[in-house]
Amino acid sequence: VILEGIMTTLNRDGTTNISPMGPVVDEAITTLRLRPYKTSRTYENLVRTGQGIFHVIDDPQLLARATIDRFDDPPEFIPATAVEGNILADACRWLALRVETIDDLTERATVDCQIVDRGRLRDFWGWNRARHAVLEAAILATRVLLIPADEIRRQYSQLQVLVDKTAGERERQAFELLREYVEEHLQ
Ligand SMILES: Cc1cc2nc3c(=O)[nH]c(=O)nc-3n(C[C@H](O)[C@H](O)[C@H](O)COP(=O)(O)O)c2cc1C
Repeated sequence: VILEGIMTTLNRDGTTNISPMGPVVDEAITTLRLRPYKTSRTYENLVRTGQGIFHVIDDPQLLARATIDRFDDPPEFIPATAVEGNILADACRWLALRVETIDDLTERATVDCQIVDRGRLRDFWGWNRARHAVLEAAILATRVLLIPADEIRRQYSQLQVLVDKTAGERERQAFELLREYVEEHLQ
């Protein structure tokens, strides 16, 4: 099963890279396999440092901003102890990871990680259809150069219906951020 969340890894200059990633996990989350594209900063950082932190999150704004890398205010971090890295203070749960093996023979690498520490910061807020729509919109935003413009717009207008039905301010703003980004970057 895939668990969508956010990875933080350390950049060469000591800053923190924040990227949505969907690792393969087992139901109890005892193993974690990342599938980063070899072109991603996350991959580069994992290869260089051999460590990172995966976060289970529920904040649609955090997801949207991490996706398009547009933070008005930098997110709050808590320093990790078991690995070198930073925990997103707004996450529900986090898993500190050490890279065990990397298979880089394909375009998407397979990075098997050992979970060396974990923590719970707060309850998962819950679901609504607008949050789910923001997740789908975020994935589409990362594929803006791969999927035809018409198709992206069609999918965004379907997702907009779910946002209109169930969103609060945070979901509405997150969706709007992604929609603006997509309009700016469409071919
Ligand atoms: C929910 C979600 C899950 C994602 N999962 C992955 C993934 O498993 N592997 C990957 O390479 N990219 C994934 N992406 C796309 C990356 O987040 C995107 O390519 C990003 O630009 C990589 O950032 P980086 O270069 O800073 O690592 C995902 C995006 C979203 C929104």
